[in-house]
Amino acid sequence: MSSYVIRGGKPLFGAVEIQGSKNSAVAIILACIAVEGEVVLHRVPCITDVLDCIEIVRYVGGRVEWLSGSSLYINCVEVEYKEVPARITERIRASTYLMGAFLGRFGRCPLMKSGGCSLGERPIDLHMDVLGAIGARHGVTGELCLNRVSDAKYSFPRVTVGGTVNAIVAAACGCGECVLKKCAKEPHVCDVVRFLNECGADIEGVGSDCLVVRGVGKLRGCEFTLSGDMIEAGTYLLAGVATGGAVTVNGVCTQELSALCNALEYMGLYVEKNDLSIAVSGLAMRSASVETGEYPLFPTDLHPQMVAFMGCAPGCGFLRENVFGGDRFKYLTELGKQGLVYSVEGNGVTVRESEYVGAKAYATDLRGGAANVIAALRAEGESVIGNAEFVERGYSDFVLKLRALGADVSYGDL
Ligand code: EPU
Repeated sequence: MSSYVIRGGKPLFGAVEIQGSKNSAVAIILACIAVEGEVVLHRVPCITDVLDCIEIVRYVGGRVEWLSGSSLYINCVEVEYKEVPARITERIRASTYLMGAFLGRFGRCPLMKSGGCSLGERPIDLHMDVLGAIGARHGVTGELCLNRVSDAKYSFPRVTVGGTVNAIVAAACGCGECVLKKCAKEPHVCDVVRFLNECGADIEGVGSDCLVVRGVGKLRGCEFTLSGDMIEAGTYLLAGVATGGAVTVNGVCTQELSALCNALEYMGLYVEKNDLSIAVSGLAMRSASVETGEYPLFPTDLHPQMVAFMGCAPGCGFLRENVFGGDRFKYLTELGKQGLVYSVEGNGVTVRESEYVGAKAYATDLRGGAANVIAALRAEGESVIGNAEFVERGYSDFVLKLRALGADVSYGDL
């Protein structure tokens, strides 16, 4: 097990180049299984979730090679239908995307286990529901079969990123017209739609919650650049102000981070937005009350990092989690070891101004781990944050980027 050893109390200053979106990358790499041509993706983050997706594509016979820098070549012309072993699929939530890709390419899909961060129950009932609505049925051997995507109309009873992506990938390779309502419109979903359209798909409504997918039968290869990772960007901005420093993030769509920027401005921080960059500086004058929700509301993937920062703000802050269940709060016990004073009631957490101290704590999941790192960067003294591998799932060159901002951080064993 690896850990981060952090000697905190040093303000972070400087600029960070933001990676391509993790959630776009994992969805698009697996969607390539449905693409009968050569794909070149640019700005792919080198993180373990992406490496796991690459392993899956290679397992089914796809050719994947890193080109210079962060460009990835993927050729799935000769992929074959086979079940990917649970030892690989269980590592990541994104393996649920195999359903859309397999149904699109082969018209059938074995039921495979997925994994990912433990954030409460993460069912796939809505994936099955929407795939059923576009014509998928269970075969005698238990696999899911989709001989022909028929015309369909479906309205998601609850917004789901994964369910939306699976439906559009499968439907894009069909021949009917699918009208999907109450779709997720997260920036990474928009990236998937744009990617599929570059591959010859006919999907209308990008950026809205109603997508009309007209099946084109086959997808061809393309070259595509991923958008910036808004969660990585938000994490560095929060780490900067938590340490009393000022960080600029470059290469991110500023509008995507509006909910975070509004909350920080309310707290009294100075937020400067330029074309593709955001800089945040100053000291918090007050705390905030925030609710997570689907895009464009405050992202659940910035919840733990925001709570860590609220611990640095005067007064009392509050965050209500509306996307995931109780397990999203698991990180709080570990943040408590670092000095956070908080109380939980239902799906809300009240946070008081706290004095973070050097401590040993364990990341409980990817974003929770990022929150532990923020608290450790703020604390005077040495902290050791265990389970660094959770954090490495989503942040490329994490230690290097933090060091470039002035942090004293290195890897250790714990
Ligand atoms: N849900 C259902 N049934 C379903 C699908 C979802 O009840 O069939 C519920 C979930 O349990 C959850 C809510 O709906 O309470 C939203 O889940 P969603 O399907 O939108 O999430 P996801 O596709 O599993 C993606 C990201 C997560 C991010 C969420 C929400 C990927 C690989 N994962 O997960 O990212 O938190 O959307 O925006 O894209 C992360 O990056 O740290 C991360 C966890």
